[in-house]
Amino acid sequence: MAFKNILIEKKGDIAIVKINRPQALNALNKETISELSKAVDEIDNDKKIKVAILTGEGDKAFIAGADIKQMSNMSPLEAKEFAELGHAALNKIENSRVPFIAAVNGYALGGGCETLMACDICIAAKSAKLGQPEINLGVHPGFGGTQRLPRHVGRMRAKELLFTGRNIDAEEAFKIGLVNMVVDDDKLMETAEKIAGKIASKSSVQIQFIKELVNKCADIDLNSANSMEISYFSTGFSTKDQKEGMKAFLEKRKPDFKGK
Ligand code: CAA
Repeated sequence: MAFKNILIEKKGDIAIVKINRPQALNALNKETISELSKAVDEIDNDKKIKVAILTGEGDKAFIAGADIKQMSNMSPLEAKEFAELGHAALNKIENSRVPFIAAVNGYALGGGCETLMACDICIAAKSAKLGQPEINLGVHPGFGGTQRLPRHVGRMRAKELLFTGRNIDAEEAFKIGLVNMVVDDDKLMETAEKIAGKIASKSSVQIQFIKELVNKCADIDLNSANSMEISYFSTGFSTKDQKEGMKAFLEKRKPDFKGK
């Protein structure tokens, strides 16, 4: 499907999704959010794709937030619909069958920071700036920032960032656990593709199980969560990949996983 503000490039079993509004630092307007949702659907439906990388077009921004111009005159009802649209798109990333790696190539502010938090793994370029500056606009985050940020970095750190609207650099984001790693700017996509390739070589059915277990069980009690793990673990023994992985180990060779 062709989009106006999203680019999808497929490299074998890896999809690279780019937010493509560099003239507005890739700010998320309604059209871009809707297209992002459709792009995730497209990836989910293309069974050849095993991992997705999400990044921003240009060298300045991953996503500089929700579109302030578009939001500035919204009525409360329009703001509700806008927040629901944003949440729906980010939930799609979080619930996608494939792992999403955020490759943060510059500003990841407001809706941009909220987007990377919906991804599974986040790699930041050294020059990236992250934060939830909504308070400086007289509002608070509307695409999950008040909820996902404390789950990622803890409540106190989250509240300090949300109350002050202070942006942080990539190193600080790494220290507080908001990103997995920081790499030189010119190594960002290379690193993201390397990690994506490594994940794509594993059993995609088991990767999907892991993603579901980690995400779905994060907010339920430990006993129920562990029961879910037992159930998924046993289901895993109905897959060809379990047979192949263990057989390959015993035969001292590399496994050839089929995602089945
Ligand atoms: N929405 C709309 N347009 C934006 C934008 C945004 N979030 N961020 C940048 N732009 C636009 C600018 O308006 C500008 O457009 P024009 O050339 O037409 O004037 C263009 O992108 C380039 O931006 P700047 O000239 O401002 O670039 P800069 O290098 O001087 O500054 C910046 C970069 C510090 C990121 C600055 O653009 C900025 O502060 N942007 C806003 C960041 C922000 O507050 N994000 C949170 C938005 S609210 C939100 O996301 C709510 C939510 O949770 C749902």
